[in-house]
Amino acid sequence: MEVIASIGALRERLGAERQVVFVPTMGNLHPGHLELMRIARARGGCAVASVFVNRLQFAPHEDFDRYPRTFDTDCKALAACGIDVVFAPNEAEIYPEPQTYHVEPPPLGSQLEGEFRPGFFRGVATVVLKLFNIVGPRVAVFGKKDYQQLMIVRGMVRQLGLAIEIVAGETARAEDGLALSSRNAYLSAAERAEAPRLQRTLQGLRLRLVAGGRNFGELEAECARTLAGNGWSVDYVAVRKQSDLQPPGPADRNLVILAAARLGATRLIDNLEVSI
Ligand code: PAJ
Repeated sequence: MEVIASIGALRERLGAERQVVFVPTMGNLHPGHLELMRIARARGGCAVASVFVNRLQFAPHEDFDRYPRTFDTDCKALAACGIDVVFAPNEAEIYPEPQTYHVEPPPLGSQLEGEFRPGFFRGVATVVLKLFNIVGPRVAVFGKKDYQQLMIVRGMVRQLGLAIEIVAGETARAEDGLALSSRNAYLSAAERAEAPRLQRTLQGLRLRLVAGGRNFGELEAECARTLAGNGWSVDYVAVRKQSDLQPPGPADRNLVILAAARLGATRLIDNLEVSI
């Protein structure tokens, strides 16, 4: 496995590759990330992962500085997965001058996650487009854990005419159901014990939907109350259409429940697809 830090050296290395398959990450890799690496590996061609903590997608008060950085361990895991090339640029390589050109996401980028993290999807879309232009992949793999991010990347690829196939990986979970996330490392022991309630609550809502519940607003509010009653600060619990993440009507059958809530200082997100 080669580790490459400069855009020039990466272009030289990948120039002759017929098919590059790409997995962008911010590092601190866990088995969820590594599952995406295996999906990439299975596509054949040259498997490239990037490790870059993208300042552009963090608000000033967010955790950019304390985001866990574990590069040496990450590289060992990537090598064990059969990744061919790791692109690990420093900040000056990606942002040698202030980034004044941005990808402006659609209105969806200001809803759900975007409502609580203004500028987040603009920062994500901008760096993802930039990484796509640097790496030149034919295929890129993203996790359903960040469902709205996956949707926004898919829309960007479609509307900007990028010749990249976006492949989705399922969410990897701990045995108790908690979605794996680099941010789980921030949880105290007591918070870690409480954290699986987020997915359990979504599972409960799924049962209500499967049983015919259609008063989405009331069902969402009930879940938010359950979480709040157990010490969570809830940003949103929302039932949306899988197709465009907009609110469903009573006849819509392919739904996804999305949620974000804070336990102490740690903000967790999760989602659950429901087909009825
Ligand atoms: P990061 O949070 O490191 O996630 C990298 C990829 O791993 C994303 O596609 C994410 O959805 C996926 N992922 C995270 N947790 C997962 C889990 N438990 N199961 C399956 N996949 C999981 O997402 C980002 O980085 C950044 O926004 C990035 C796209 C790299 C742009 O900076």
